[in-house]
Amino acid sequence: MAYKIPLFNLNFDEREAQAAYDTIKSGWISTGPRNAELEQMFIDMWKVRYAVSTSNCTDALHICCMVCGFGPGDEVICPSLTFAASCNCIRYVGATPVFADIVGPDHINIDPSDIERKITPRTKGIIVVHMAGFPSMMDDIMAIARKYNLKVIEDACHGPLSEYKGRKLGTIGDCAAFSFFSNKNISTGEGGMFITNNEEMASWARLIRSHGMSTMSYQRASGHATEYDITCLGYNFRMDDIRAAIAIEQLKKLPGDLDTRIRVREHYLNRLGKIEGLVIPFADNTCFVSNYIFPTVLLNSTKERRNKIREFIHQAGIQTSVHYPAVHRFSTYRGLGAVLPRTEYVADNEITLPMYAALTGTQIDFICDTFIKAINEIK
Ligand SMILES: Cc1ncc(COP(=O)(O)O)c(C=O)c1O
Repeated sequence: MAYKIPLFNLNFDEREAQAAYDTIKSGWISTGPRNAELEQMFIDMWKVRYAVSTSNCTDALHICCMVCGFGPGDEVICPSLTFAASCNCIRYVGATPVFADIVGPDHINIDPSDIERKITPRTKGIIVVHMAGFPSMMDDIMAIARKYNLKVIEDACHGPLSEYKGRKLGTIGDCAAFSFFSNKNISTGEGGMFITNNEEMASWARLIRSHGMSTMSYQRASGHATEYDITCLGYNFRMDDIRAAIAIEQLKKLPGDLDTRIRVREHYLNRLGKIEGLVIPFADNTCFVSNYIFPTVLLNSTKERRNKIREFIHQAGIQTSVHYPAVHRFSTYRGLGAVLPRTEYVADNEITLPMYAALTGTQIDFICDTFIKAINEIK
């Protein structure tokens, strides 16, 4: 069924098409000048020292775990209310994910006090996910990291240009990862970015991205190098220049897109902020955020009722989603035996409503009217 109002719409126009076309015509389509330009834009806009583009965020997270030095026998604390990639990356390097619960339905990010409860002598790091682009409680988390000498990775996939107390998400921990998957704030189809202020991590990340090679094809083709060494075990985590060219256009649009999303969220909050039996996570947030998605949580409800409400909304032609099915309940993670009551409640009772800059006031009213009707009718 084609939805009248999709969850997300691609903010593309002739600029992305032209950028891709120009790159194709330039004669250089693999990792090269467009990637370098994109990395520099991240450095400038995030005020961070190093940026390394990657083929997707999962690879950037894999790099984060490698440069943080996680390995077999280590434990890394992470949320379960996230996409599986935030936890899978821990396993790629042979370490073990230890799930911590979220704060609650009104703040669906990892709970610092549960992080501290889960620390053992084997704990080496923490991965935080800034859900929907809203900051995790970074002061508390960084204090715990300092106390126990832990590395902090920010999965900032949802939060390009989001801030926490004036600092950009992704620049607070040791290193961070961003995604340019189609439905993200910056869309290139597939793509990602690793950022850090740590020089050693950055040079290692650059090597890991391309087979551990000491020079890149573009350097050799442009006469800056003639040979290469393989200095460590790396991967092919590179992004091509066609996607980088699209990402550059997307990044130019991002500040304007985020400003418009603020108005979309405000409209939603005005309509849904005081509905009995419904919580809007992060309703009291005052930081500038990306508003990647618009999550809501039904109170005193059940998964069955949530699914019926979603179905009602779908019948009206509105797409919704769930962020997220809890990772610890997936078959490949069940063996870890995690019990996370608040995560489980939200995973069963969350509904994500459409969020994108082009949503009109009339559309938002239609979504809210339909949602309120469903909440009132489906008991
Ligand atoms: C929180 C989070 N982390 C990681 C990822 C993985 O990103 P990618 O698809 O770019 O590998 C996603 C993508 O949906 C995500 O939402």
